[in-house]
Amino acid sequence: MSRTPLISGNWKMYLNHFEAIQTVQKLHYVTPTEVFDRVEVSVHPPFTDLRSVQTVIESEEFEFALGAQHCHFEDAGAFTGEVSPAFLEKLNVRYVIVGHSERRELFGETDDMVHRKVGAIMKYEMTPIVCVGETLVERESGDTEAKVLGQVTAALTDRSSDQIAKIVIAYEPIWAIGTGVNATAADAQAVCASIRGRVAELADADTAAAIRIQYGGSVKPGNAEELMGQADIDGALVGGASLHPEDFARIVELAAATR
Ligand code: PGA
Repeated sequence: MSRTPLISGNWKMYLNHFEAIQTVQKLHYVTPTEVFDRVEVSVHPPFTDLRSVQTVIESEEFEFALGAQHCHFEDAGAFTGEVSPAFLEKLNVRYVIVGHSERRELFGETDDMVHRKVGAIMKYEMTPIVCVGETLVERESGDTEAKVLGQVTAALTDRSSDQIAKIVIAYEPIWAIGTGVNATAADAQAVCASIRGRVAELADADTAAAIRIQYGGSVKPGNAEELMGQADIDGALVGGASLHPEDFARIVELAAATR
């Protein structure tokens, strides 16, 4: 089975467009080109940086895919402050993060909105990275699977197997995001295997074998190799460490080395 790992850098609300340009240039400089035979790498700057980063990536022929952190599910309308997936497609955005726990918790993004966004993103032939994950309270009460698989089902329901196979799911335990405490490789692997099992139920075995599942939550150079070496983990969604090109490049290299 050959799933190309995807390592995504979620820059969150950090780096203005000048800093973003410098960061992507430095990232290129410190990333060995041979890794791109084995892994894909996306960078997800804030909206105001997208055009600048796109221009650098395309004019310098960097092998990074451009990503966004969020979008609306409608093409256009009276939605002050929102960004249409149609606009992202015009910037050659390839990956769009959907339902990040910060969006769900701080900005009221619901499972229904996530479902609609997944459809809107795919309509423009971009790839959604659907984030799912449990809180610490849910984990301690044994509700991890119920929460995570419920979110997966809500995002993927009523879609064809062909569509589902193209989606990326990011398993991000909320208690691990930005805390420095990552899930153990065994725990992360177990949840990612359950997600794959749910995809087999919602679609079929071939689709489950094809879909990519990232782990996210305090991924850093010190834990990337073990996490990325797990059978059902196909890459990482990296926040804090992706702001530091040397650290992010090291994570990319370690992920490539597991393939
Ligand atoms: P972190 O963030 O790597 O800083 O924990 C992950 C994320 O928010 O996607």
